[in-house]
Amino acid sequence: LNELRIRTNGALGVDQTTGRIIGIGDDVTDSSTGSAEALVASWTGSQASVKGDVQVTVLSSDQFLLPGLIDTHTHAPQFAFLGIGHDLPLMDWLEKYTFKHESSFKDIELARNFYSGAINRVISNGVTFAAYYGTIHVESNRILADTIRKAGQRAFVGKVCMDVNSPSYYSESTAESIAGTEQFVKAVLGDQGNESGARLVTPIVTPRFAPTCSMESLRGLGDVARRYQLPVQSHLCENPSEVAFVKQLFPDCTSYADVYHRAGLLGKRSIMAHCVHMGAEDIRLLRESGACVSHCPTSNFALGSGIADVRRLMNNGIPVGLGTDVGGGYTPSILDAMRMAAAANRALIAGRRDRGEILEGRDGVPLEAGEAVFLATQGGARVMGMADQLGSLDSGKLFDAIVVDLNVPLSPVPAVSSTPAVKCLEDHPDEAWRVRLEQFVFLADDRNITRVYVNGNLIHAKQT
Ligand code: GUN
Ligand code: FE
Repeated sequence: LNELRIRTNGALGVDQTTGRIIGIGDDVTDSSTGSAEALVASWTGSQASVKGDVQVTVLSSDQFLLPGLIDTHTHAPQFAFLGIGHDLPLMDWLEKYTFKHESSFKDIELARNFYSGAINRVISNGVTFAAYYGTIHVESNRILADTIRKAGQRAFVGKVCMDVNSPSYYSESTAESIAGTEQFVKAVLGDQGNESGARLVTPIVTPRFAPTCSMESLRGLGDVARRYQLPVQSHLCENPSEVAFVKQLFPDCTSYADVYHRAGLLGKRSIMAHCVHMGAEDIRLLRESGACVSHCPTSNFALGSGIADVRRLMNNGIPVGLGTDVGGGYTPSILDAMRMAAAANRALIAGRRDRGEILEGRDGVPLEAGEAVFLATQGGARVMGMADQLGSLDSGKLFDAIVVDLNVPLSPVPAVSSTPAVKCLEDHPDEAWRVRLEQFVFLADDRNITRVYVNGNLIHAKQT
């Protein structure tokens, strides 16, 4: 988390057939193994078998590779009303905008026309792996899953379930929630057959949140997750009125997290979004079950939900990743989520100091750029249950990565290599890339993300 690994003049080899990293080395330009062919030979152990098939891509001195960015929480249908209604608190925002808009995805032609544009926007922001919520409609969700698979992105896709406390025009029965989820799961698993390589799109069991789900549906969904060994996603402790409503709806449960726990929905493969207003028992249940948190600071600031205490969650051993929560969040940019995570953490520290609290260890240390990158990569990989396969550029892992180009104007700075910050580091060349990474985190946007790879395949390249 607080150990940044930077390789300069490095080289990385990918096996195109498996999509895996086969080797990674430092300082290739001044070592005796200076040629790509020699490096590949040392990685594969047999120069003859790979010769002729080796494709070499050279990055410029302003470019670098990062592990692919992971969005652990977003809503694909909500891209249509970005930036609208953020003056409303969560429950009013859902009622006035979100449910009405999502209900229109009953029309599968709308889904067909809409989803490809939304997915392309996510990919062009450098997101190689995302956990998507769809709508309640099985057919439209199939189109969403299919669109993602064809675009080559890695994803979890969920059929949203809501059988109570939902408007008549956007609601389903308990049986429809459970049977619809199973139908969607079978369809997505079946659509991908036994294609070579890892499955790109995995269905995820998705009760919207406790207020719109009966205990019977939650239990049924927990059962589906267990039978098909699938991940689960939902919202937890986002807003004070929501938390109070859950308490009123489930008087027998001892906390909000206990509602999901009793339904068998909390486990190592559960992704709980927000976790802003967590009591001691909510934290304990997440810690003991191994459940993970998607921190969505852009959304939390926009809807005024509050500030999640990421260090407290991590100190409890709970895996944390970043989410954009489009459209509670107004942008699909995970870079914005990184900056907002930094701002949220600073606001939290300042508030606690104002109240006279003594902050120990790293609790009082502002979240660094490298830590924000960790949350968006390795942190996300843990939350998605794939830390052994993804999240860092290590030999044996799947090659999900982005190429960052700093030679694109970073607002408001004209060009990075001529900025005073880098100039004043001329005497500290070892610091230069750390500073450049910091500038990337705080200043860059999708214009600086020039290539996106998933499973070793180039799925997006910006025209230069
Ligand atoms: N809680 C339940 N549904 C939603 C949603 O669509 N967005 C956010 N931010 N919170 C929710
Ligand atoms: Fe959400």
